Amino acid sequence: MTRMLLSCHDAVFRVGPTTTQQTRYRIMKTIKLILAAATMTAIGAAYVHAQADVIETRQATMKTIGGGMKVLSDMAKGATTFDADAANVALASMAEAAATIPTVFEAEVTEGAKTDASTAIWENWDDFVAKAEALQTAASGASVSDEASLGAAVGAVGATCGTCHKAYKL
Ligand code: HEC
Repeated sequence: MTRMLLSCHDAVFRVGPTTTQQTRYRIMKTIKLILAAATMTAIGAAYVHAQADVIETRQATMKTIGGGMKVLSDMAKGATTFDADAANVALASMAEAAATIPTVFEAEVTEGAKTDASTAIWENWDDFVAKAEALQTAASGASVSDEASLGAAVGAVGATCGTCHKAYKL
């Protein structure tokens, strides 16, 4: 009886460690694979996140420009009361935002978030920058003092949006 127990114990002792080691090795390998996959996913997610940030930043710049344009055109249409100061503030914000276009559009990013930016931007970079400068010049050069100058500002600044969008916005 004692002998049997002993031999049984011996058997477990002999087989036990080896099996445990193999199992541990397999578990460690699986954990390493899971961790590696998780790291890759995290790196991938961070990359997509960075791309989305680039797109969001340049779209925010365009939204500022669009917001300024809305102030001007609503005023020109008579939808809002004429206010020369408000019009000039809008023009200044548009000129300021336009000056950042070359920076916020510099990185060629067309994935990671929904974007209407055409790859033509980076194929014709100098022309794109020239079109951004045209907006900046028109916005900083305009000064609103009456309804006539407001109309002129809307026309001059507004023309630059279409020129660029036609060539570079999908
Ligand atoms: C130098 C080129 C350029 C000029 C000038 C320009 N835009 Fe844009 N605009 C773009 C591009 C490119 C996009 C697409 C950006 C994207 O989706 O990543 C865009 C997008 C927009 C958007 C959409 C932003 C959003 O929410 O996704 C608005 C609004 C806009 N522009 C308004 C204007 C107005 C108004 C003007 C003129 C006062 C103007 N833009 C001048 C290139 C330009």
